[in-house]
Amino acid sequence: MGLINYLPNKQAIERLDIAKRDDVLEIGFGPGWALKAMSRLAHGGTITGVDRSPAMVRLAQARNRTAIGDGKLKLFEGTFEQLPLQNASVDKILAVNVIYFCSPTGTALAEAHRVLRPGGILSIYATDCSSMRKLQFIGPETQQTFDLKSMEDFLGKSAFASDRIEIQKVWLPFGFRGLVARLCKR
Ligand SMILES: C[S@@+](CC[C@H](N)C(=O)[O-])C[C@H]1O[C@@H](n2cnc3c(N)ncnc32)[C@H](O)[C@@H]1O
Repeated sequence: MGLINYLPNKQAIERLDIAKRDDVLEIGFGPGWALKAMSRLAHGGTITGVDRSPAMVRLAQARNRTAIGDGKLKLFEGTFEQLPLQNASVDKILAVNVIYFCSPTGTALAEAHRVLRPGGILSIYATDCSSMRKLQFIGPETQQTFDLKSMEDFLGKSAFASDRIEIQKVWLPFGFRGLVARLCKR
């Protein structure tokens, strides 16, 4: 994984405080690097991934064959606006570089809140909009981009209580900037 992807994933995973028996979900897992890292941390729990891209599902399957074979990891081709999970069924959710693809209506945040157990944590990483422009990351599928204020506004409208939302600025190599949010369900 390139440094520009590794550091955001590392920072966001650290904020989940994953325990060995946790049930963990990643939304928008892409090639599946973080799924592999989190399987090692939650070795007594389960890992679930949801991504809408069949190509990414295939890549992540190839990268995580052992965990899938052991029945620890399940991957779904689907959308994070309609998660294929029961209410209150996971302890931790990771969302790295995916929030730009969420509808401004907040459906994906409502889904994340629904599937988290009370006390569960959602960790979100987003590259700051100024760096997104420099990196030319903004494409036809981008629904929204964020700076600190717009992320506070977006997350503040969700079902997560405002006193359970923390957002920090992070600095990446080459002067790029990001935001990491940690949201805890009451
Ligand atoms: C920029 S990649 C990030 C991948 C990975 N999290 C990482 O940090 O490398 C965004 C991923 O989100 C997925 N995605 C985008 N919109 C989605 C949606 N509405 N539902 C599920 N997956 C989605 C894409 O297929 C892609 O794999």
